[in-house]
Amino acid sequence: MGKATARPATRDQKAQIELKNRGEIPHHIAIIMDGNGRWAQRRGMPRIAGHKAGVESVRDIVEACGQLGVKYLTLYAFSTENWRRPEDEVSMLMRLLLRALRDETDRLQRNNVRLMAIGDMDTLPPEVRRELDDGIHKTSGNTGLTLVLALSYSGRWDITSAVRRLVGEAAAGRLAPEAVDEKLIGATLSTEGIPDPDLLVRSSGELRISNFLLWQLAYSEIYVTRTCWPSFRREELYDAVRDFQNRERRFGMVSAQIDKKTRLSGFVRKVTDS
Ligand code: FPP
Repeated sequence: MGKATARPATRDQKAQIELKNRGEIPHHIAIIMDGNGRWAQRRGMPRIAGHKAGVESVRDIVEACGQLGVKYLTLYAFSTENWRRPEDEVSMLMRLLLRALRDETDRLQRNNVRLMAIGDMDTLPPEVRRELDDGIHKTSGNTGLTLVLALSYSGRWDITSAVRRLVGEAAAGRLAPEAVDEKLIGATLSTEGIPDPDLLVRSSGELRISNFLLWQLAYSEIYVTRTCWPSFRREELYDAVRDFQNRERRFGMVSAQIDKKTRLSGFVRKVTDS
C-alpha cells in the first residue's frame, strides 16, 4: 500500500501554527463589533447592509477562534442601549439575528461549538428567544469553543441584576453582608462559570467600553483597530492575538513576580477567575 501523502498546510493553517508556537493563545476573547453602519454608509448602502456583512465576519471569526483553540468568544451583538435605535433598524437586526441563528446552528454543531447567551432574554422577540434556546440546547454537549452572544446586554444591567438578587437573599435572611465578596459577585453575574476575558477587541476605532462586560474586563488587555466590523476577518484577529502575546499582564504585581512559566501555568488566570 502506498504511503498516504499529507496535504500541504494552507497559508491560514501556517499562520495559526505560527501563532500557537509564538505564545499563549487567549483563553477568552471578547469583541465589541462596531462600525457596521459606517462601513455601509461609506459604500452608499443602507446600514442594514453593514449588519448583514457583519454576520460574515462573525462566521469567519468563530471558525478561526475554534481552530486556534480559543475556549470562549463573547460577542457584543446587541446592547441594552441598541433598543433606542430607529424601530426599523431594531426590527431588521432582530430578523437578521433570527436568520443567522437558524442558518448557523448546524455549522456550530459540526464545528463542536457550544452556544450560550447573556443578557435580558425576556426583552427579545419570542421567536428569537425560541431559536436561541434551541441552538443552546442542541449545542450544549459540544466541547470546543464556547460562543457567548451578548444580547440585550449591558454591564450595568448585569451588575444591577446581580445586586438585586443578592439584596433579595440578604433580605430573606439567607445571606450575611460579610459573605459578599468578589467571588460571590462574579458567581451572581450572568457570566457565572465563564472566565474573565483575556483580550477585548473593538473594531472601528472608538476608545470606549460602551457598557460591555464592566466587571469582567477589569484586567483584560484591550486591542482597538480602525477596521470596521464587516471588514474584520481572521487576519486581523491574528494581529490582535500577536499584540496580546507581546503584552505583559501584571495584575497589579511587579514584572519580577510574573515570570513566563507562571503565566503559562494558568496561575494568573486563577487569580482573576471568580
Ligand atoms: C455595531 O455597529 C453593531 C451592532 C449594533 C450589531 C452587531 C450585529 C451583527 C454583526 C449581526 C448579528 C450578529 C450575530 C452574532 C449573528 P453600528 O451599527 O453601531 O455601526 P456604526 O457605529 O458605524 O453606526
